[in-house]
Amino acid sequence: MPSKCVGILTSGGDAPGMNAAIRAVTRAAIYNGMRVKGIYRGYKGMITDEIEEFKTQNVSNIIQRGGTILKTARCAEFKTPEGRKQAYDKLMEHGIDSLVVIGGDGSLTGARIFADEYNMPIVGLPGTIDNDLWGTDITIGYDTALNTIMECVDKIRDTATSHERLFFIEVMGREAGFLALNGAIASGAEAAIIPEISLEKDQLAEMIETGFRKSKNSSIVLVAESPVTGGAMGVAERVKKEYPQFDVRVSILGHLQRGGSPSAQDRILATRMGVAAVDALLDGQRNVMIGIQNDQIVNVPFSKAIKKNKPINEGLLNALRISSI
Ligand code: ADP
Ligand code: F6P
Repeated sequence: MPSKCVGILTSGGDAPGMNAAIRAVTRAAIYNGMRVKGIYRGYKGMITDEIEEFKTQNVSNIIQRGGTILKTARCAEFKTPEGRKQAYDKLMEHGIDSLVVIGGDGSLTGARIFADEYNMPIVGLPGTIDNDLWGTDITIGYDTALNTIMECVDKIRDTATSHERLFFIEVMGREAGFLALNGAIASGAEAAIIPEISLEKDQLAEMIETGFRKSKNSSIVLVAESPVTGGAMGVAERVKKEYPQFDVRVSILGHLQRGGSPSAQDRILATRMGVAAVDALLDGQRNVMIGIQNDQIVNVPFSKAIKKNKPINEGLLNALRISSI
């Protein structure tokens, strides 16, 4: 039986474009004759009963706003069968018979478990700046975060050049290096240190031994935050010990990467994905994440999306290496 009432929530780390996705899901559901209920604070709001009927006006004037109007949270109770039972009971009280979950791999892992336990149709949208979900070329929020990183690095480059310093700039990404690698290409950095490569080779030693500074007196290296890379502080400490000739500084960009008005690309992606999520529910699809591959919307089973081994494109490594000589 097609869904009559869809609940929508945002969970885990927020990402620019989540509001555009909430707007699109709400309007697509109403357009197709369904009711929509906004669930506040991720899975926590299902347990604490923070659920409200959404009309088209509830999502007016939000496409341009960063963050999420539904708020977001990390909810430990939802990781327990008792917590999920409480959540399910509340959904039943509200007449919610399907869910759209917008979040990262943790949120989609929770969705998968819940869907299996309660036979609930759930469609996920990849909402994370990390871009670490398998089966989609990009995730909602990634493009905006990349643009933010690029703007910050452009500014740091001014002072790096003036002082002829070596800067290690740490960017987010959890265990993935997409923000670091593409941020480095976009900002003209000299190198990126990413977890996907760290286990294979000593990127720092290779970078310095191949004379990465070339003709330049200042250098910028983007470091992915993962424990595998050691983060920017870890890398800088090593340089101070092993290569004391460099005047090193560290900058950790932190949560500013998650904020700001979403880029046009993120707004369009979120809108397409939101509409596709409702289409998928109407089509009887369940337990899939909406992805985009070669500009085409695809449905990716949760089990594949959360595998955590989305590969880095080798061509990007090459492009960075060659373009920074
Ligand atoms: P993200 O979605 O950004 O990766 P988290 O990893 O923090 O963020 O996950 C967000 C929330 O998803 C968690 O706080 C929890 O409520 C839920 N979740 C994550 N993993 C599980 C799990 N194994 N079982 C049930 N719920 C989970
Ligand atoms: O998953 C998004 C993300 O911003 C990661 O890049 C980062 O590691 C993490 O969330 C930070 O989480 P918090 O906001 O809880 O510090």
